[in-house]
Amino acid sequence: MSTVLILGATSEIGGEIAKLLAAGNTFHLAARRLDALAPLQSQLERLGARQVQLHEFDALDATRIEPLLAQIGHLDVAVVSFGILGDQAQAEAEPEHAALIANTDYTAQIVALTALAAHMRQQGIGTIVAFSSIAGFRARRPNYVYGSTKAGLDAFCQGLSDALHGSGVQVITARPGFVIGSMTKGMKPAPMSVYATDVAQAVVAQIARGKSRTLWIPAKLQILAWVMRLVPRPIWRKLPR
Ligand SMILES: NC(=O)c1ccc[n+]([C@@H]2O[C@H](COP(=O)([O-])OP(=O)(O)OC[C@H]3O[C@@H](n4cnc5c(N)ncnc54)[C@H](OP(=O)(O)O)[C@@H]3O)[C@@H](O)[C@H]2O)c1
Repeated sequence: MSTVLILGATSEIGGEIAKLLAAGNTFHLAARRLDALAPLQSQLERLGARQVQLHEFDALDATRIEPLLAQIGHLDVAVVSFGILGDQAQAEAEPEHAALIANTDYTAQIVALTALAAHMRQQGIGTIVAFSSIAGFRARRPNYVYGSTKAGLDAFCQGLSDALHGSGVQVITARPGFVIGSMTKGMKPAPMSVYATDVAQAVVAQIARGKSRTLWIPAKLQILAWVMRLVPRPIWRKLPR
């Protein structure tokens, strides 16, 4: 029996991971819209979760995470799945919007990951799942604000994973490509697109392996990513999202 925390539990990917882990486990679902968690709560209960507790959580408030972890106590798996894509054009015109993307997708992430790492290091056991993205591998003209946060977060996760080596705590750094779903609604799917269920399956399989790892989802995306790095800048800057 494990205790699982989903930070940003209204996330489509976070919800799919929770459903795959449901049977026999205890859940702490943390989100800023508690009312939106009712469907996931009842699905998890139907799927055999032992207990599902809901917590109000705004990731932009850096004072929230430590009291939440103290309230939960022992924790086996933590999934940091909150995030925003933001609006690139708005971010270029309004510094406040650029700051909102950076604060949500970088600063709030490292606040949560730092608190989780300290909590689990003390336990001597645990798995942390963080979400990077192919968008962070090489920044693109149409979404470089979001992409830059993922590049920073990915670097942070690589360092965190090394820092926790030998502590009993694993870090899974997921690097999905385009996920057809709530975050990308209305957008044309990119090559090698996947669904939230595919991302959840890959993450849950890695949780079961109990080892730190950077996960390209789908795995073949890694090849595309390396090719992307070779594209000359005059061509790269003209590519669509
Ligand atoms: N979807 C993709 O194509 C894709 C690809 C690569 C990586 N990723 C990453 O994977 C992770 C999960 O993505 P997803 O597709 O599941 O996205 P999603 O369905 O849009 O969920 C993101 C969730 O984050 C929550 N959130 C945003 N700001 C928050 C805050 N300040 N406090 C608490 N919760 C907050 C949102 O809550 P509200 O409902 O309250 O707004 C939303 O439910 C994200 O880090 C994303 O960047 C996604």
